Amino acid sequence: MKKTFYILLSFFTLASCSNANSEENKKEKFIDSLLSKMTLEEKAGQMNQYNGFWDATGPMPEGDYQKKRYKELKNGQVGSMLNVIGVDQIRALQKIAVEETRLGIPLIFGHDVIHGYKTMFPIPLAESSSWDLELMEKSARIAATEASADGLHWTFAPMVDISRDARWGRVMEGAGEDPYLGSKIAVARINGFQGQDLKDSLTIAACAKHFAAYGFAESGKDYNTVDIGLQTLHNIVLPSFKASAKANVATFMNSFNEINGIPATGSKFLQRSILKEKWNYKGFIVSDWSSIEEMVAHGYSKDLKSAALSAIKAGSDMDMMSYAYIKYLNNLLDEKKISIDIIDDAVKRILSVKYDLGLFSNPYLYCNDVREEENIFNDRNRALALDIAQESIVLLKNDANILPLKKSGLKIALLGGLAIDKDSPLGNWRAKAPKNSAISVKEGLIKYNNNTVKFQKGPKLFKNPTFIDGHLNVNNTDTSGTYSALKLAKESDYVITVLGEHGLQSGEGRSRSNIKLPGIQEHFLKEIYKVNKNIVLIIMNGRPLDLSWADAHIPAIVESWHLGTMSGNALASILYGDCNPSGKLPMSFPRSIGQVPIYYNHKNTGRPGPSDYVFWSHYSDEKNDPLYPFGFGLSYTNFEYSNLELSKADERTINVKFKVKNIGNHSGKEVVQLYVRDLYSSQTRPVKELKRFRKVQFQIDEEKIFNFVLKKNDLGFLNDSGNLVFEKGEYEIFVGGSSKTNISSF
Ligand code: GLC
Repeated sequence: MKKTFYILLSFFTLASCSNANSEENKKEKFIDSLLSKMTLEEKAGQMNQYNGFWDATGPMPEGDYQKKRYKELKNGQVGSMLNVIGVDQIRALQKIAVEETRLGIPLIFGHDVIHGYKTMFPIPLAESSSWDLELMEKSARIAATEASADGLHWTFAPMVDISRDARWGRVMEGAGEDPYLGSKIAVARINGFQGQDLKDSLTIAACAKHFAAYGFAESGKDYNTVDIGLQTLHNIVLPSFKASAKANVATFMNSFNEINGIPATGSKFLQRSILKEKWNYKGFIVSDWSSIEEMVAHGYSKDLKSAALSAIKAGSDMDMMSYAYIKYLNNLLDEKKISIDIIDDAVKRILSVKYDLGLFSNPYLYCNDVREEENIFNDRNRALALDIAQESIVLLKNDANILPLKKSGLKIALLGGLAIDKDSPLGNWRAKAPKNSAISVKEGLIKYNNNTVKFQKGPKLFKNPTFIDGHLNVNNTDTSGTYSALKLAKESDYVITVLGEHGLQSGEGRSRSNIKLPGIQEHFLKEIYKVNKNIVLIIMNGRPLDLSWADAHIPAIVESWHLGTMSGNALASILYGDCNPSGKLPMSFPRSIGQVPIYYNHKNTGRPGPSDYVFWSHYSDEKNDPLYPFGFGLSYTNFEYSNLELSKADERTINVKFKVKNIGNHSGKEVVQLYVRDLYSSQTRPVKELKRFRKVQFQIDEEKIFNFVLKKNDLGFLNDSGNLVFEKGEYEIFVGGSSKTNISSF
């Protein structure tokens, strides 16, 4: 029986392998045959991506700029478009590409579906605070169904840039400071977007971005110079990209920044040596918006033509909005500066993704109106958005267990304009979320109607929050509205005040040099504190903020980020205890801007201190540790860790066993974390490195035994060539509910 079984199994295995091979062969034959028919102009066209440039369901485009692009579209000189929204628009453009060009090659339509499409999920940094990989995969899945139901094929997400700098506006878009957590989250989101089969019309191609090191912009200033060593590049920056490539992410996007003197868009080292050769990546790389052209501004290319040469030689396959390839590839080929092979490689990669999406067999596969209703912005999607919003909330402080609040008999003053703001919770990169479609904190609280909740706006926070491309004007001086807010606070049992950043104060181009509560807010908070100390502070923000004063005075602080459509309901359920907060910070919160960049996996240095004299690594005017560390978050209950035991299963594995018990009087979830320290090594290693985590539900008094297995790879590091090195030595293992844990194997 056994023998037969194995023969059958091997037959099926062989059959499925040969089936996959035959599918690959079929695809390869199709693409090679199509490529052989293409002119150079058409090949360059596939590598050319335009932003939507007119209402394709309306009259022909006017003006030279648009007429020229329209002509190129009809000549098959456009391979992709971005920011075209809606089945009608996409179908109209696809019709031109398929029915009016010589070869009828379908366009691929992309858009920034970063944390939802119409149903907004928490911003990625908030979702990352959930540490719930399954929920993050589901969130991306819903975003993909909504975007694909609206005709889209491709999202420019997940953004997998690691960053340690809260000044950088785009930390809102990523997964924080740690490469291990960042890698797991990248894969979860890619799997959510791409599903099991890209040919399924409710899945979309994903895009790992921005390759690479964009999050290490000097002084946290967006687009700024990046100058990092190979150890940081290989061990901190690249792991989430490598994990994305291994997860078969369909595309990569390069980054605006230079790295160590070479713009990423022109970096053969990054795009060819590492991504396409060492990692054997088969997808295509789209440039970031005009990043090819920007190599002139970088002072790397003399002009657009030489930028085109650098970009194509470096492996940038598709040109987003520089018009460099469509203008100069033919000249570069005529001048023998490039070979046709380098162009063919890029075109084949692009055609391959279009093939995988099923666009050649049915270019209108995604243009199906019927799906619009059943897949977009419905209660099922909102229910998931509520779940993940609840899991993303981080309880930073809860003195005297002021939270959860009683559900009846209380007089509550709800203060601050952000408490009624239905737009800010949508965060930046809000795709097609209807304006003001978020449930506000006030709306969420009203459902608990056995308390008396009265609202006062207090001082204006932002002077004209209607900006899109400009910058918000923050109110720094006008205190009008404060008196009536303080009067209400004085008459109330509790104050819930919502402070922080407008949804568009973080994101691209929105770095801040000061990360305190913006403008008049800290003054307002201090005024409230003078009249009522029972304050629950809800922080709404897109980056870690300097909350030092609040931490020293305010009894309860809830980190809510920008939680998306279901924001108010998620917060109300936490404040009233229907949901026990379980979020953990994916990024350290500094005590002050002077500490930035600050992160948990730092090196020990030669003078770690502390010492009672000045010559050690410290500040004379600030502590060394963050206000709230990576991995930190409180619960309404408490978890006790004990019985940590290590055992060697064999030469290659270590078993780490320990117990966790819920010793409080609430059921709740704990993110159990395991960190490693290599005490000495041929390259200095961080004082802690996250190597395992698991989010687990505990009933009251429930205890669980955890058994994590560490392999040699988990203990190694990547050397300057990007190769894994494992060295025998001494390792310390830590387990706990945050990176601050000192429960160790020593
Ligand atoms: C932007 C961003 C990138 C985005 C692209 C298309 O400038 O850097 O993340 O995907 O342009 O909108």
